[in-house]
Amino acid sequence: MSEYILGIETSCDETAAAIIKDGREIVSNVVASQIESHKRFGGVVPEIASRHHVEQITIVLEETFAKAGLTIDDMDAVAVTEGPGLVGALLVGVNAAKGLAYAHQKPLVGVHHIAGHIYANRLEKELEFPLLALVVSGGHTELILMKEHGNFEIIGETRDDAAGEAYDKVARTLELPYPGGPKMDQLAHQGEANIDFPRAWLEEDSFDFSFSGLKSAVINTLHNAKQKGETLKQEDVAASFQASVVEVLTEKTFQAAKQYGVKQVIVAGGVAANKGLRAAMQTKFEQEETVELLFPSLSLCTDNAAMIAAAGSIAFKQGHHAQWDLNANPSLSLERYAKRSMLER
Ligand code: KG4
Ligand code: ZN
Repeated sequence: MSEYILGIETSCDETAAAIIKDGREIVSNVVASQIESHKRFGGVVPEIASRHHVEQITIVLEETFAKAGLTIDDMDAVAVTEGPGLVGALLVGVNAAKGLAYAHQKPLVGVHHIAGHIYANRLEKELEFPLLALVVSGGHTELILMKEHGNFEIIGETRDDAAGEAYDKVARTLELPYPGGPKMDQLAHQGEANIDFPRAWLEEDSFDFSFSGLKSAVINTLHNAKQKGETLKQEDVAASFQASVVEVLTEKTFQAAKQYGVKQVIVAGGVAANKGLRAAMQTKFEQEETVELLFPSLSLCTDNAAMIAAAGSIAFKQGHHAQWDLNANPSLSLERYAKRSMLER
């Protein structure tokens, strides 16, 4: 008998639902993006995000079932992002999942958003342990060691801005529309990395990251140029910024992969869509025949519910079922989430 999992994701500005079969096969995957509504504010407005989720969730769920030709009765479990994210946004997904699961007496599974980003890769390639995941998104920059399914150990993380956040803030200074990451990536490929921005290596044995110094350096360079009446080419600023971010991410991931002797390196989250990062990682790991490098397809890098269902499928198999009092947890820690699922096994 096949296993079907319904996934629901509403942690930020995408209302998403998906059905996956046997943990790895996408049956249907629907994402309603709110980017257009947030663009004029230059970022995600939490109140507007919640309201959109309320308007969209039923439509998105109906479309997900219709596309799959399945009903809620065919599902083995309902998996939902319980955190981290915007509390009002998360609540819409959590309540929709609880309502559906309770009404149809299906098991309910809470999923950590970052576990979802990592498990997006399992929709395309089986995971092999130990693995190292570089999770780079609008809210996260983390190096995570996984020794087995459902086990997450953070070995490095950002001390200030997340990589995607730095992209979006620098893009805003360049007066590019939200979200700036994809546009910066595009511009970077048309320019030259001819401005020497700093690289934050931190202490020698640290796998932590820091992007706020780089962000300030870019903003200061732009202001100084303006004061002198000079204009810097947007493309060159983007290329120089991207060169700094990509070099630090690639180098630290490479060192950590060697230190922990991992079989796979996974790049996940919205910034995993970055063409410069994908190319640099491929070049860096080319010679390492014992390490397999995985990136999800572009549509699975940014927020979606197929990844939540994929992580949910593993949690479900491990017996990690949520209670009916499951709540949105805006600051859910990945390691606490992992420990909890180990305890409940
Ligand atoms: O994973 P995601 O959809 O949402 C979060 O969980 O945060 O990631 C969104 C982030 C945004 O900061 C966006 O600018 C960034 O990913 N992003 C990119 C690219 N595509 C999306 N950053 C750099 N280059 C890209 N191609
Ligand atoms: Zn995300």
